[in-house]
Amino acid sequence: MPRIVFIEASGKEHVVEAKVGESVMQAATSNMVPGILADCGGSCTCATCHAYLDERWADKVTKVSEDEAAMIDGALDTQPNSRLTCQISVTEALDGAIFRLPVSQY
Ligand code: FES
Repeated sequence: MPRIVFIEASGKEHVVEAKVGESVMQAATSNMVPGILADCGGSCTCATCHAYLDERWADKVTKVSEDEAAMIDGALDTQPNSRLTCQISVTEALDGAIFRLPVSQY
């Protein structure tokens, strides 16, 4: 099982065992990672699953879709590496991937 690392803005780390095929958001919520609220359940309409993907894994995930980009545009504290974690599927290639949470999500 790939291990995904979520780091809160405070620096607190959460390492979770994720299932291949689920979304990164699902891996976070099923492990009670604070700051990933996922209000829309993964339908790309809330941006409460926003996180910054560490650049080392940027080429191991699908590219940002138009819908995701539009939602990120409306999110707080965005950066060039902002992603909606509900739009990223867990694969073995994501083992060790780091997602940092914006200060606005705690
Ligand atoms: Fe709502 Fe990701 S869970 S946009």
